[in-house]
Amino acid sequence: MSFRVVPLHPKAMTVESILPSASKPVRVGEYLCLAVLGSGAMARVYLARPLAGGPPVALKLLHRRLGRDPGFVSMVLEEARLVGCLEHPCVARLQGVGAHAGRPFLVLDYIEGDSVESFVQLARSLGKRLPVPVALRVAVDALEGLDAAHGARDAEGVGLSLVHRDVKPGNLLAGVDGRVRVVDFGVARGRGPSLRAQRTRTGHALGTVAYMSPEQVAGRAVDARTDQWSLAVTLWECLSLRPLFEGATPMAVAAAIAEGAWERLEPRRGDLPRGLDAVLARALERDPARRYASAGELREALLGCAGEAVASARELAVFVAAMAAPRVAGERRALATAAMGFAGPLCRPRSRRPVQFADLRSPGPGGRPPERAAPAHEHAPDALDHGPGAVTARRATAGRGCRA
Ligand SMILES: Nc1ncnc2c1ncn2[C@@H]1O[C@H](COP(=O)(O)OP(=O)(O)O)[C@@H](O)[C@H]1O
Ligand SMILES: [Mg+2]
Repeated sequence: MSFRVVPLHPKAMTVESILPSASKPVRVGEYLCLAVLGSGAMARVYLARPLAGGPPVALKLLHRRLGRDPGFVSMVLEEARLVGCLEHPCVARLQGVGAHAGRPFLVLDYIEGDSVESFVQLARSLGKRLPVPVALRVAVDALEGLDAAHGARDAEGVGLSLVHRDVKPGNLLAGVDGRVRVVDFGVARGRGPSLRAQRTRTGHALGTVAYMSPEQVAGRAVDARTDQWSLAVTLWECLSLRPLFEGATPMAVAAAIAEGAWERLEPRRGDLPRGLDAVLARALERDPARRYASAGELREALLGCAGEAVASARELAVFVAAMAAPRVAGERRALATAAMGFAGPLCRPRSRRPVQFADLRSPGPGGRPPERAAPAHEHAPDALDHGPGAVTARRATAGRGCRA
């Protein structure tokens, strides 16, 4: 396979583009939040710089509306407890935990790139397809990270029995370094002294319905094999650009999952490695006992049937650079602006008033970190697959993206 190498932000080296319109970073703990990286059901994630200097981080701060709910506060702490035990190149690393105005936040390694969900949406909107090698690399890396998470141990060496439980395109980030990382262990569960007493009551309702396993939607006990199912649903979606299980309501989606019928991909796409459907079929067995024994085994099976069709890290890096160019350029600009334009005033604040987090949410003029610029994606079409069978953009249904 081949990709055209494109510069990340060809016009970014002019002073005008490095210093865009004035907007002030906002302080949260010992960090300056510069831009919004993303937002989920639980938290908003900011691109931030440590005040003490050093590389940028991703600061995940619990939504204000959830800050008073001890159940959600303990979920963030539980996420910290679990991710803190993980050290793997395919999992976003936790650097620390803090609190801001009573709300907990996590400090994670910043991943320059974009979510697999964004790539799916962009390809769909352009009427193109994700290259098969890229989709396979996403799955293979994600499975590596998940396998590491499933086998994670605490400081005493005791196995955590960690299960992510919310594997989906939005929780897989592809970096410009050519690696995919699993993020968002916000509804993950592990053995051990759980900090999350309140959330177990509604535990099975958390996560995104469309990617849940049959045992998850039924509210039965889940283990690592539930993540295998969700990853297979994610891979199916990357290759077909439509959700595998759909429905007008979350209940209808859950019913489709419980029924478990799914359409084979090989008749749909002629460029798939032979045997891929068989691998997916095993990962999508309704009975977890019939799936692969581990995420690692599913990964081996994918590599076994796809072999050289899997994109290399370099090829993925080129793809991400093209697809995420506007986002990455915006984030680099925010970092450059903070470094150049605000270094003086921020180091010597004129006012002693600590910046309130309200400043982030209800901005006065220039009082908010810049939201990401509308993407131009001028290079994305080149990175995508023009493929024969036209991809029909089908609307995501109401059943997707619903989290309790
Ligand atoms: N470490 C990170 N680096 C860069 N972006 C991130 C990082 N973590 C999260 N994001 C962005 O923030 C979004 C929401 O983060 P996530 O952890 O999934 O929050 P939630 O629990 O609310 O779903 C992600 O989809 C991604 O776009
Ligand atoms: Mg998420």
